[in-house]
Amino acid sequence: MTNTPAAELRPKALPPGVFAPERIEIDEFHLRRYTQDDAQALHEAIKASYAALHPWMPWCVEPIKIEDQRDFIERGFLAWATGRAFDYRISDGAGAILGSISLMDRVGPGGLEIGYWLRSDLTGKGIVTRAAGRLTEIGLALPKISRMEIHCDAANAPSAAVPKRLGYRLEKIVEGLEPKSPGETGRGMVWMTP
Ligand SMILES: CC(C)(COP(=O)(O)OP(=O)(O)OC[C@H]1O[C@@H](n2cnc3c(N)ncnc32)[C@H](O)[C@@H]1OP(=O)(O)O)[C@@H](O)C(=O)NCCC(=O)NCCS
Repeated sequence: MTNTPAAELRPKALPPGVFAPERIEIDEFHLRRYTQDDAQALHEAIKASYAALHPWMPWCVEPIKIEDQRDFIERGFLAWATGRAFDYRISDGAGAILGSISLMDRVGPGGLEIGYWLRSDLTGKGIVTRAAGRLTEIGLALPKISRMEIHCDAANAPSAAVPKRLGYRLEKIVEGLEPKSPGETGRGMVWMTP
């Protein structure tokens, strides 16, 4: 799940009518657009990963309510239709949810941002690095896009390791942000493609 509160404040980077693909094959797993039928499985995945997600994801607070997952998917339909965000479930061949990854048009002209989380029993296999790597290629091939960004708190080492592994450069550290979740320090890293 992602929050895109600033989205409407920044000019859109993608031209009207341009969308990301609805399904993307990657090795033994794939990314696909959410449907409302995914709410229950998403709910279970978030509940099972609560301890790992809660420090970093502002929306991950107890109680985890399935209504919130339904709302996330519903908001995602609108975001997709307007080309503002493309939310994908990361799925295996058996249809289990491994995590979630989003391509977001909220960093202004020329850029797209990637955000992600993984089910906590599936870390350490390169799933998010490979998914973010593919979305980086796809994003850079879209019209009017010349840079990709990944943002994370400076204390979130596993998250920062993803863009670093993919060859992104640390463009800047923004000091003095208001922490939005318990692990955040208020020092925000902005990683960008070279
Ligand atoms: C951020 C998060 C997705 C990173 O998960 P992760 O498992 O470390 O990332 P990946 O799935 O890319 O796996 C990378 C690991 O797999 C290894 N790996 C194995 N096969 C690999 C492959 N084919 N390609 C790349 N890496 C591979 C890497 O070496 C790395 O191992 P290491 O952790 O020992 O260095 C996860 O920690 C998470 O969900 N955190 C909570 C939510 C969060 O913070 N989201 C980001 C908010 S900004």
